[in-house]
Amino acid sequence: MSLLFVNEVTHSYGSRKFFNWKDRSKKVLSDISLSIEEGTCLGMLGTSGAGKSTLGKVILGLERPQYGQVLFQGHDIYTADKHARQKIRRDLQAVFQDSYSSVNPRMTAERIIAEPLENYEKLTAAEQKRTVVELLERVGLSEGDLKKYPHQFSGGQLQRINIARAISLKPKLIVLDESVSSLDMVNQNLILELLRELKEELGLSYLFITHDIKAAYTISDTLAVLEKGELIKLYDSKNQFFASEHPVVKKMRDSILAEHPRFRSIRTNG
Ligand SMILES: Nc1ncnc2c1ncn2[C@@H]1O[C@H](COP(=O)(O)OP(=O)(O)O)[C@@H](O)[C@H]1O
Ligand SMILES: [Mg+2]
Repeated sequence: MSLLFVNEVTHSYGSRKFFNWKDRSKKVLSDISLSIEEGTCLGMLGTSGAGKSTLGKVILGLERPQYGQVLFQGHDIYTADKHARQKIRRDLQAVFQDSYSSVNPRMTAERIIAEPLENYEKLTAAEQKRTVVELLERVGLSEGDLKKYPHQFSGGQLQRINIARAISLKPKLIVLDESVSSLDMVNQNLILELLRELKEELGLSYLFITHDIKAAYTISDTLAVLEKGELIKLYDSKNQFFASEHPVVKKMRDSILAEHPRFRSIRTNG
């Protein structure tokens, strides 16, 4: 059984099901099926407006699709009973692009990271603080950062805090929606490296949503390409992706070949 199975999901915003026969609302997702195996990262590529974030929200339980199911460990996340839903909420976490708007500016790093623990774990104050310090250290920050506010951190540091919060409940799957897209190259690479380490250490799985083929290539095990709400292709491996003759994939790939000898050699060798 796959960790996550998305089954024939179709969605459009603001349409009224009862008037479907003359419903002109645009389909944002049409008939999407995909799966993510435990311990792997699925890279979801596509240009702006392709429907990537909508799919992320559907998978996170934030946007109920009009048609289709999202199964997490075999449970339909939209019809699961209360107990199962609670478990799914712990096991499914997210890190979004804009690290600043993801956090409450009036909360310290300590409170931001502790929030999920407060909601789901019954820790003593001392245990909770120790856990938060461990999480901070795990993402490359330190105890000295506990009392700092979001504006006292750089974008990269704040994204580390968002990652610390996301892993605090030891989830199974993290949806990363353009999580490194607003960072400079150096920080992008550092965060990707951190994500890769955490994946190995904690046995995490990722849905890595991005418009950036390089970032996707760095971290993904399998890849999917979304275009105008349609899943145009699924690839079981990076090599398959780079060997693909699909015009959309070729266009994405060609746009970076010139500047990256590494990709050029992949194309010529494979
Ligand atoms: N809440 C919303 N209400 C109406 N339309 C939306 C909403 N969110 C996104 N859309 C539209 O859905 C399409 C896909 O958006 P999105 O999922 O954000 O794509 P991506 O993340 O790939 O850029 C776009 O045309 C966008 O304008
Ligand atoms: Mg998006």
